[in-house]
Amino acid sequence: MAETEEPRGEEPKEPEVDFSSDLTAADRPPKRKPKRLGRPTMVVDDVHVRYRVFGARRMGTSSQFKPSLYKRLFDRTSKAVGSVSEVHAVRGVSFVARQGESIGIIGRNGAGKSTLLRALAGLMPYSEGAVYAKGQTALLGVNAALLPRLTGERNIVLGGLALGLTPAQVQAKFDEIVEFSGIGEFVSLPMNAYSSGMASRLRFAISTAKIPDILMIDEALSTGDAEFQRKSRDKILEVKDQAGTVFLVSHSSATVLSMCERVLWLDAGRLVMDGPAAEVVAAYKQTLPGNRR
Ligand SMILES: Nc1ncnc2c1ncn2[C@@H]1O[C@H](COP(=O)(O)OP(=O)(O)O)[C@@H](O)[C@H]1O
Ligand SMILES: [Mg+2]
Repeated sequence: MAETEEPRGEEPKEPEVDFSSDLTAADRPPKRKPKRLGRPTMVVDDVHVRYRVFGARRMGTSSQFKPSLYKRLFDRTSKAVGSVSEVHAVRGVSFVARQGESIGIIGRNGAGKSTLLRALAGLMPYSEGAVYAKGQTALLGVNAALLPRLTGERNIVLGGLALGLTPAQVQAKFDEIVEFSGIGEFVSLPMNAYSSGMASRLRFAISTAKIPDILMIDEALSTGDAEFQRKSRDKILEVKDQAGTVFLVSHSSATVLSMCERVLWLDAGRLVMDGPAAEVVAAYKQTLPGNRR
């Protein structure tokens, strides 16, 4: 990364230094694949995410009165009243993601995978650190919001516009989205009439109508049938082909191994390991009590 274009006044130039060995040592000590690395798409620098948890006030402090809803809501915003505790869900995660990389994120329940992904997608504030992303990010997952009382059709239009497509582009993509989601005639029914699988397939189809630069998937692959998983894989490959970056949170080590060449392993909010998929998955599996997949 450190090219000569950085205008720094003071440095005495040392052109004879063997940068290649220096950089690999700092980056990933033992081995580095011969594959050419793309340009960085995302730089994550010491990111911390904290949830504030409100509540658990002691009973009896104002026992004469049952506080009104208004008062209880109001109290929540006040630091003086009530107790606020904190969940430090992501603790100092740093890495650089590059063009054409697909990166799996693994770890136990509660390790902070979803939280990290949401923070990277810009959907959650982080309390320390920085995230630099090049281009548009799209998070697909169980939480991506569509409006359940509206029909699939309306959600396709609104979702497409939210992605930055023009109305004409949405129209042009409409049939493709319906076809990709496989919901057929259900598209004209409100989404709350859908099965959860149908809803998540439509969500996925809408979110990938415009190929994002950085695609993030949280468990989405596990909700579909085999046919849909195949389509999802194609989308991931499409993103990679267009020199984008894919992040994939999955409980299935088989999925991670088949889709990702690099894996981040999180535990208790910390990045335990970052390296080639097979090595990291193997190391993670050794820490599991049974041999679950
Ligand atoms: N909305 C929330 N409010 C408070 N704590 C949360 C919230 N969401 C997640 N957490 C906590 O943050 C930690 C990380 O959660 P999460 O990112 O969902 O983990 P994972 O996706 O790896 O299972 C857990 O301790 C969880 O209890
Ligand atoms: Mg999760």
